Amino acid sequence: MSRERAKLVVGNWKMHGRIGDNATLLTEVAAGASALQKGVRVGVCVPCPYLAQSQALLSGSVVQWGIQDVSAHAGGAFTGEVAAEMAADFGVTYAIVGHSERRAYHRESPELVASKAQRAIEAGLTPIVCVGETLEERQAGTTEQIIGTQLEAVLQILTEEQAAGIVVAYEPVWAIGTGKTATPQQAEEVHAHIRARIAGRDAKIAALVRIQYGGSVKAANAAELFSMPNVDGGLIGGASLKAEEFLAIVAAARG
Ligand code: PGA
Repeated sequence: MSRERAKLVVGNWKMHGRIGDNATLLTEVAAGASALQKGVRVGVCVPCPYLAQSQALLSGSVVQWGIQDVSAHAGGAFTGEVAAEMAADFGVTYAIVGHSERRAYHRESPELVASKAQRAIEAGLTPIVCVGETLEERQAGTTEQIIGTQLEAVLQILTEEQAAGIVVAYEPVWAIGTGKTATPQQAEEVHAHIRARIAGRDAKIAALVRIQYGGSVKAANAAELFSMPNVDGGLIGGASLKAEEFLAIVAAARG
């Protein structure tokens, strides 16, 4: 089953990087990825002000670029928000929605995240829908319930055709930026559950949807995580800020 799904490795720069450093990083990633890319898709999600820079430096390369969030609205009086259509003007492919930092710090509900995913799809972008449990939720044995609620809100709002185009990123909150990675078995268990839930909607869609793992992925643990049957690549935070480390993760996804 996993052979049908090319692995997808996407960097999430978060609020890091300035224009000068970005130029070096983007150029190095584009150059390195072209040699590695066979069978793997590669992307970087940059802060909004650098979308034009990413477009300029990555156009024509194998690396696609993305945005880290989009508004749940198509446009209008929403000061500070960025519409998916605006990102599309800069050739963006991916839009991360529902990252745990946004769910936690901006109180984004599953329904709001679902609307964001829908706006992204309507603008022609591929939403990377992040789901994941906190340490307390895992310890309380509610991981599947939490992820179920986050995922179902998205599946409910999308048509089947739209649902087939999403990427899901399983990011246990306790593993993000902490250096504590889920074991490959822990990741596989949740990924298989996510796929089974999508299959509850439609088995064909479930077979197509990529499920990335995110949370302290680095070159040293990527190959083991990516070898699991339901792990279709990774969403990479800290390790995407160094070209060499990020490219080593891309290489691990190539198998
Ligand atoms: P990390 O972040 O790789 O730094 O843990 C992952 C993410 O938040 O997407």
